[in-house]
Amino acid sequence: MLLAQFIREGTAALGALYDPREAAGLVQRLCNGVLGVSSYAHIVEPSLEVPPCDLPRLQEGLARLLAGEPLQYVLGYQEFCGRRFKVGPAVLIPRPETEELAAVASVWLRQGGGRALDLCTGSGCIAWTLALDAPGSAVTAVDISDAALSIARRQFDNSRESQPCFIMADVLKVPEEFPGAPFDVLTANPPYIRESEKQFMHRNVLEHEPELALFVPDADPLLFYRATAEWARRFLKPEGRGIVEINEQLGAETAAVFEAAGLKEVTILRDFRQKERFISFSK
Ligand SMILES: C[S@@+](CC[C@H](N)C(=O)[O-])C[C@H]1O[C@@H](n2cnc3c(N)ncnc32)[C@H](O)[C@@H]1O
Repeated sequence: MLLAQFIREGTAALGALYDPREAAGLVQRLCNGVLGVSSYAHIVEPSLEVPPCDLPRLQEGLARLLAGEPLQYVLGYQEFCGRRFKVGPAVLIPRPETEELAAVASVWLRQGGGRALDLCTGSGCIAWTLALDAPGSAVTAVDISDAALSIARRQFDNSRESQPCFIMADVLKVPEEFPGAPFDVLTANPPYIRESEKQFMHRNVLEHEPELALFVPDADPLLFYRATAEWARRFLKPEGRGIVEINEQLGAETAAVFEAAGLKEVTILRDFRQKERFISFSK
């Protein structure tokens, strides 16, 4: 089969789920991931054939996309801060805005050295970025999901000396003592989407990404931030700093949680889409 034909037919079929440009992009990225060809290979070389041994994998990938599965789960990875992270249905697919949070915390950790704590770590994308970008640092990461932690622990098998310490714990139950404390830097990207916001979300997120990673009750949408502020109060060094990702519609209310906990320099930061997306603070 010609690559151009596979892309044309795949794009048309995916048009039932996605707008045409998004559908074309997904099929091209599938081909890129499976065959290693560039996104314009079928244009500059219209006679390029899909190698027969690769066709079943491409067809299976397309079938999964047609079932609404995110491309990242089909390929098994997502790029984050220049590294390739393993992903599967047990972990949230790392988002580009979270790269901004990791970049800020990474600079802090490189400047100050020392220890970092990442709450709600999921795939471990923030924890590993900190550990690998700030050699010599010690990173501890927490999640309640055993399945997520087993992916997080296996991200970079050859980086044992930098490997964060992954711990299973419920962030909502703040302990009296914690291994690795006190910390210089705290990061968290907790669940923050209200149940009532589900109606605005794409089917491929709702049906395939873990509910546990996404949703909070409408009656108490800031519960993870109250807990995070308490982790910061108990386990940050006096000069320690923190940054958390937030629901863009709840910036002021979330900032108030950190202020009420007595944290200083509480600041709302915008992401690259100009949405209120992070709160930074100091102890
Ligand atoms: C929004 S995801 C963030 C994942 C990753 N840090 C990232 O930025 O891509 C939230 C994570 O919080 C975890 N989580 C949910 N409830 C939790 C709890 N009570 N205690 C600890 N982790 C929890 C989920 O398993 C999920 O991995």
